[in-house]
Amino acid sequence: MAPSTPVSGLSLPCLVLLLLLEIPGAGAQEFQLLQPQGAVWVSPGETLTLICSQTGFIPVGPTKWFKGSGSGRQLVYADVGSFPRVTRAVSGSYTDYTIHISDTRPEDAGIYHCVKFVKGSGADEEIRSGNGTVVSVSARPSAPSVSGPPSRAEPGPPVTFTCTSGGFCPRDIAVTWLKNGAKLPAPQPRVLPAHESVSYSVSSTVGVSLTAGDARSQLTCQIEHSTLPAPLRATYNLSDALRVPPRLRVDTAPAAPVALNESVTFTCHAEGFYPKDASLTWLENGTETNLGNPSPLAENPDGTYTLQSSLEVKATEQRNQSVFTCRVVHDSQPPVSANATLRIFQPSPDLFSSPALWIGLFLEKVLTAAFLLFLFLRNKA
Ligand SMILES: *[C@@H]1O[C@H](CO)[C@@H](O)[C@H](O)[C@H]1NC(C)=O
Ligand SMILES: *[C@@H]1O[C@H](CO)[C@@H](O)[C@H](O)[C@H]1NC(C)=O
Ligand SMILES: *[C@@H]1O[C@H](CO)[C@@H](O)[C@H](O)[C@H]1NC(C)=O
Ligand SMILES: *[C@@H]1O[C@H](CO)[C@@H](O)[C@H](O)[C@H]1NC(C)=O
Ligand SMILES: *[C@@H]1O[C@H](CO)[C@@H](O)[C@H](O)[C@H]1NC(C)=O
Ligand SMILES: *[C@@H]1O[C@H](CO)[C@@H](O)[C@H](O)[C@H]1NC(C)=O
Repeated sequence: MAPSTPVSGLSLPCLVLLLLLEIPGAGAQEFQLLQPQGAVWVSPGETLTLICSQTGFIPVGPTKWFKGSGSGRQLVYADVGSFPRVTRAVSGSYTDYTIHISDTRPEDAGIYHCVKFVKGSGADEEIRSGNGTVVSVSARPSAPSVSGPPSRAEPGPPVTFTCTSGGFCPRDIAVTWLKNGAKLPAPQPRVLPAHESVSYSVSSTVGVSLTAGDARSQLTCQIEHSTLPAPLRATYNLSDALRVPPRLRVDTAPAAPVALNESVTFTCHAEGFYPKDASLTWLENGTETNLGNPSPLAENPDGTYTLQSSLEVKATEQRNQSVFTCRVVHDSQPPVSANATLRIFQPSPDLFSSPALWIGLFLEKVLTAAFLLFLFLRNKA
């Protein structure tokens, strides 16, 4: 564990700004108590070193380290007492009062003062305090997490996604959003609390307009912080937020109109939907029929699904003008449907089987040929 090093030019210390404590040094002009470190950054688990030295005529009395100031200050180290994580750099020295604090924790952040006391008649009397050292404990942000909309959204208006992380210090942090690796514009993240703190949390939101092809898309939230050797990332599969309703179409084969007593097949195509949860039913004149013959669910290259079902019926006279409805319930949404009307015609076998028709057609061809021959011969002449 490397001892911490002083940092200069600190813009945003994690706890409070350096407070200067001036105690009138009654009758101790030659005595000097020096606390040269203005601010120190330390990572959790590291050993923190706080420097304090005394020069000149050193009055008899203890030197102690405190965290904080005023009546709420907390004794960090004194030669008498038990301070498990604190050791003196030069044990027993009267001039060097530097201490090491091992296994630093976020709670160790604060302002530390080296304070000199003289032995009084009763309690020890404080005569001098060092300028104070601001200790900031840096902390890594937690693994980010991305949350999506409470329910699936259809392609169109932007949907909000939120990325959160916390427990970091210093305050400065960068959040980047990527969709399939491409950067998305996003507003500035919100870092809380607004005041100085031992640690901060961040929340960033982005609006994403989903498209039908997003079933395979990934949204990534990337976090960069001074404590991180590489950015932290969280991904969100847009398929978890996407709903694409099916496009419905009913084909009729043979194409209408259909000859009486012929067999006709209606095929319903429910195309390009997501997620795959969908059920298809057929209705004839509004009444459900269980005659449909569904084919297995097919997955499209873009991750959406297609469902197909065919219904074969005999074009009986009674079915003339029947409306066949394909109804699809997708992802617990209100049903969508498509219709086809069965139009039946009565073939007139007497017309096509009558010899008169065939003779008529034959005569027409002969006459045309004769006319063309006549034109050809006349042009040649
Ligand atoms: C302590 O602060 C005072 C006032 O700002 C300054 O004059 C003095 O040089 C400082 N001493 C040390 C040791 O930094
Ligand atoms: C996202 O999708 C990928 C591949 O389809 C899968 O491996 C991964 O587990 C999914 N992640 C989540 C959070 O659902
Ligand atoms: C159609 O079928 C019905 C009953 O199967 C039969 O009575 C009728 O003659 C048939 N009509 C034609 C034009 O084939
Ligand atoms: C369905 O309705 C049409 C017109 O309303 C009617 O002509 C047809 O006979 C009906 N089909 C059945 C099977 O009842
Ligand atoms: C389908 O036909 C029914 C009547 O049979 C009608 O109520 C419905 O609106 C039609 N749907 C479409 C999509 O044309
Ligand atoms: C079916 O109905 C249409 C329109 O009502 C009619 O023109 C046609 O002749 C009917 N077909 C049969 C086989 O009855």
